[in-house]
Amino acid sequence: MFELLGDWKRTDYCGSLGIKDLGREVILMGWVHSKRDHGGLIFVDLRDREGVVQIVFNPQVSKESHTKADLLKDEWVIAVKGTVVRRPDETINPNIKTGEIEVIARELRILNRSKVLPFPVEDEIKVDELIRMKYRFLDLRRPVMRKNLMLRHEVMRATRSYLDSKGFIEIETPYLTRSTPEGARDFLVPSRLNPGEFYALPQSPQLLKQTLMISGFDRYYQIVRCFRDEDLRADRQPEFTQIDLEMSFVTEDDVIEVVEGMIKAILKATKGVDIDIPFPRMSYDEAMLRYGTDKPDIRFGLELHDITEVFRNSEFKVFSDPVKKGGIVKAINLKGKAQHLSRKELDELTEFAKSLGAKGLAWIRVSGDEWQSPITKFLSEHEKKELKRLLTIEDGDVIFFGADTSYTVNLVLSNLRLRLGNRFNMIEQNRFAFLWIVDFPLLEFDKTENRYVTMHHPFTSPKEEDIELLDTEPEKVRARAYDIVLNGVEIGGGSIRIHRSDIQRKLFERIGLGEEDAKKKFGFLLEALEFGAPPHGGIALGLDRLTMLLAGASSIRDVIAFPKTQKGFCPLTEAPSPVDPKQLLELRIRVDVKER
Ligand code: AMO
Ligand code: AMP
Repeated sequence: MFELLGDWKRTDYCGSLGIKDLGREVILMGWVHSKRDHGGLIFVDLRDREGVVQIVFNPQVSKESHTKADLLKDEWVIAVKGTVVRRPDETINPNIKTGEIEVIARELRILNRSKVLPFPVEDEIKVDELIRMKYRFLDLRRPVMRKNLMLRHEVMRATRSYLDSKGFIEIETPYLTRSTPEGARDFLVPSRLNPGEFYALPQSPQLLKQTLMISGFDRYYQIVRCFRDEDLRADRQPEFTQIDLEMSFVTEDDVIEVVEGMIKAILKATKGVDIDIPFPRMSYDEAMLRYGTDKPDIRFGLELHDITEVFRNSEFKVFSDPVKKGGIVKAINLKGKAQHLSRKELDELTEFAKSLGAKGLAWIRVSGDEWQSPITKFLSEHEKKELKRLLTIEDGDVIFFGADTSYTVNLVLSNLRLRLGNRFNMIEQNRFAFLWIVDFPLLEFDKTENRYVTMHHPFTSPKEEDIELLDTEPEKVRARAYDIVLNGVEIGGGSIRIHRSDIQRKLFERIGLGEEDAKKKFGFLLEALEFGAPPHGGIALGLDRLTMLLAGASSIRDVIAFPKTQKGFCPLTEAPSPVDPKQLLELRIRVDVKER
C-alpha cells in the first residue's frame, strides 16, 4: 500500500500557506496530525515543521483519494496534491495561522505508516519527562519543542551575524585537550596511543582563546560545546553551549559594549523586541546586600534589609548569638499581605527556610498596632522602634527574619524572596531585565581546603589599584570581572585577564598552586605570556540558558535537542553504557565495578 514520492516535489510548507495562495495548485508533505470524517468528507490536519493545514478529501473531487484517505491514521506520512481555497466563513479558525484556508485534495500518496504514539503531538501533555526523552524524536514533533529549536537557531544566527559585523573571527578549539579549570570536574577521554593517559574535554576554551590573543587574532568568537562533570540542575547540563568571545587591547567597557549590542541584536531578531542599552550595573557588594545573591531578579522589589546592628547586643539570643559569631541578621518586609498568609503557610515557609539550612524563620504579622509573632515578646521597645523605622513597618505587613552566617542568611532570604515574589505574582512577566554584576572579589576563602580560591577562574585580572593587597588583605582585592544576569539567571561571565606572567605567577602562588604544579597544569600559558601578550579580556554567555529565557521555558533541557537527565543519562541512546571488553583492553583500562 505504500507509495513512492515519484516525481512529486513539495511546493510549500503546510504551515506557511495562507490567503496569498488562494487558487494555487500545491504539493504538500507531512504527518497526519488528526483526521475527522464528516458525512462523506474527510478532513485531515496535515503537519510539517512550519505548522498545520486542513486538507479536505471529497469523493466528488477524487473518489480514489477519498478511499485512500479513509485508511489514514494519526502520524502517517503522506503527500497531497490539491488546490488552496478559502474556507466557508463559518469554518474559519482564527486560532491557527492557516485558519482561513484549506486544501482540496485531488491526489494522495501514502508514504509511510506509524505505530500509535506513546503521547500526543501537542503542547500540553501530561507525561513523564523520561518518556519524552526516550521518544525524543516524537517529543520534538510537538510545536513548542519545534519552536524552541528554531528559536535556538535564530539566536545562533543573530549572534554570528552581529559578531561578524563587528570583525570577530570564529576559530575552533579542540575538544580533546587538557584540563581547563572552571570549577567543575573534567570528563576524561582515554588515549589508546598513549596508554594510561587521558585527554580532558574542555570545561571552556578559556586558555586557548587567550592563546589566540597572544597569536594576534584580536577578536575571536566561537559557539562552542563545553563539558562539565557537575551536579545537574534545571539550568545545568553536563555538555552545554557557550557563545565564547575574546578581544585584545580592551577594557571592561569595551567587552560590555559588544555584548550589549549583541544581545540587543538577538532580541530584535528573535522576539522583535527593542531593548534599551546600556544595561544597569550593580556591584557585587550591593547585590549581596539588597538581594542576598549575585544574580538578582530585579523585576520586583521585596529587597533584603541588613538589621545586624539592631541586634548586636540584644537580649534575644536567637538573633544576637549569630552576630557575636560574626554572622548577620537580615529581614524582608512583605508589604500588605498579612491577611493573605495563613499560619499554615507561614509554617510551610519556615520548613522551606529550614530545608535551605536555616535554623528557623522568625516572622511578624502586623495587624493594626498588634505584632502577631512568636518573637515579639523577646524584643525590647528600642528594637521594635528601630525595626519599624528601618523596615518602614505598617499595618498589614509581614516581616521575615534570618539570623546566621551571612552565607546562610543570604541563601535563605534570597530564595524566600523569589518564592514570595512568585506566590504573590509580583514578578513582571514578558520583561527582559538584564543586569551587569561588577566589582567581584577576586578571591574567597575556602574553609574545607583552608586556602584562598578564585571566585571566577584564576586568569582573571585583579584591579590594578588592588594588586598590592594580594599579600596583605587578599579578600579585599577586587577582580576585573563581570557577570551578566537576566531575570535572576546568570547567563554569562567574563573578565579582563592577567596578561603579565609575573602577576599570573603571583596569583597562582596566592591560591596555593606551587610553581611546579602551575607549570605542569598551565605551563604553555605561562610561557605564552612571556612572548608579547597583549592586554585582553572576554566573556562567555550560556547559549542554552539565554535561549531558555527567551523561549519562556523552565528548563534548559527544553531548548536542547538531545539533553541528558539529572543523572547525566540519555534515555534515547542509553548513554553512558558499558563498553566491549576488547575496547577496554586496547585502552589498557581495567574497570573496578562489579554490578551496575
Ligand atoms: P563560566 O563558567 O561563568 O565562565 O560560564 C559562562 C556561562 O556558561 C553557562 N554555563 C552553563 N550552562 C549550562 N550548563 C552548565 N553546566 C553551565 N555552566 C556554565 C552560564 C555561565 O554564565 N571561560 C569563562 C568565561 C570567560 O571568562 O570568558 C567561563 O566559562 O550561563
Ligand atoms: P526558638 O526560640 O528557637 O523557638 O525560635 C523562635 C522563633 O525564631 C521561631 O519562629 C524560629 O523559627 C525563629 N528562628 C530560630 N532560629 C532562627 C534563625 N537563626 N534565624 C531566623 N529565625 C530563627
